[in-house]
Amino acid sequence: MIERIDVTLPGERGYPILLGNGLLGSPDLLEPYIGNQALVVTNVAVAVLYLPQVRRSLVGVEQVDVVEIGDGETSKTLDTYAAILDALIDKRHNRSTTVVALGGGVVGDVAGFAAATYQRGVGLVQIPTTLLALVDSSVGGKTAVNHPSGKNLIGAFHQPQAVIADVGVLATLPEREFRAGLAEVIKYGIIADAAFFGWLESHIDDLLSRDPASLVHAIRRSCEIKAEVVADDEREQDRRMILNFGHTFGHAIEAATAYERFLHGEAVAAGMVMAMDLSVRLGRSNDQDAKRVRRLIERSGLRAEALDVDVEAMLDAMSMDKKVMQGRLRLIVCDGIGAVSATSDVPEQTLRRAIALGR
Ligand code: NAD
Ligand code: GLY
Repeated sequence: MIERIDVTLPGERGYPILLGNGLLGSPDLLEPYIGNQALVVTNVAVAVLYLPQVRRSLVGVEQVDVVEIGDGETSKTLDTYAAILDALIDKRHNRSTTVVALGGGVVGDVAGFAAATYQRGVGLVQIPTTLLALVDSSVGGKTAVNHPSGKNLIGAFHQPQAVIADVGVLATLPEREFRAGLAEVIKYGIIADAAFFGWLESHIDDLLSRDPASLVHAIRRSCEIKAEVVADDEREQDRRMILNFGHTFGHAIEAATAYERFLHGEAVAAGMVMAMDLSVRLGRSNDQDAKRVRRLIERSGLRAEALDVDVEAMLDAMSMDKKVMQGRLRLIVCDGIGAVSATSDVPEQTLRRAIALGR
């Protein structure tokens, strides 16, 4: 069965997320969203696993080319972006071509940026293959590459024509990547849906054993929440910032450890525990909420703290955010599980204590 979640946006920018188990390879799946040409962008690891199925879904397309980029965050560069553009130009792709991003967030972000800029923008279909990409990066239109000075410094908003969300791809995802993706799923419960958070508490073991029906439910609810927030604030003028719950702390953990020790989701998990601690200190959440979040994160096999990360180094990294936001750090705090809001009013001592988590 294919479920459909719509991302409702003005003009022609709206699109469906098609969700199910074992979708890839169906002959009619992709064609409604593809022009007369397609360039599949994937990486070496994912191509071996899923490129044959995607090719089967593209049999009716006149011209199909493939670019395989290197694996991992180090490939999310201007060089990789240029290689994708070179392929589009060399193979004479025209303005009605479609870039098909088959992979995790790295492939989705760099392929999306190529689609956003080739001939001032061509079609894009996202086929996410990690849990993080299924519930977060493939939806919402943020595309980017990294610069040596920082992550995601070069990018554009470019919404896809469709997102093909096949939970079947999760069967091969390494355990550490899977658990890191769960952090973003838990985030959706905290920011927007207390009942979903409760459902996660009672189904976390099913998710960890990758039960397809439970995965479909968790991904559906996550995508529904993200779609609703993006529809309300496509360009992150205001409300979309709630998706950053735990992320200011998480980014600081990643920066303070040179992006080498933690996966993004792992840093976000610890960051959400810090954000809950802060919310309690500010009188927005109670202890019970903070304990539930910590417990669910621990049960997901994620660390609930970044024990040996230097508090000063994290504060330093957060001051970069502060510069970006004209002198005031804006943090998302939890007003009880299921609701969050932004605050710029956090005394430094309180922030320090939240980062240290009582250490
Ligand atoms: P990733 O793309 O590096 O994938 C993680 C690893 O899993 C890679 O080694 C990949 O080859 C492998 N892999 C992917 N799918 C697999 C599968 N089905 N089976 C086996 N192995 C598989 O990492 P990620 O966590 O998916 O994405 C991280 C990136 O996403 C970061 O660059 C981050 O900035 C970006 N991101 C973007 C947004 C957005 O809104 N655009 C949101 C969140 C994160
Ligand atoms: N990952 C946060 C966003 O898409 O806005």
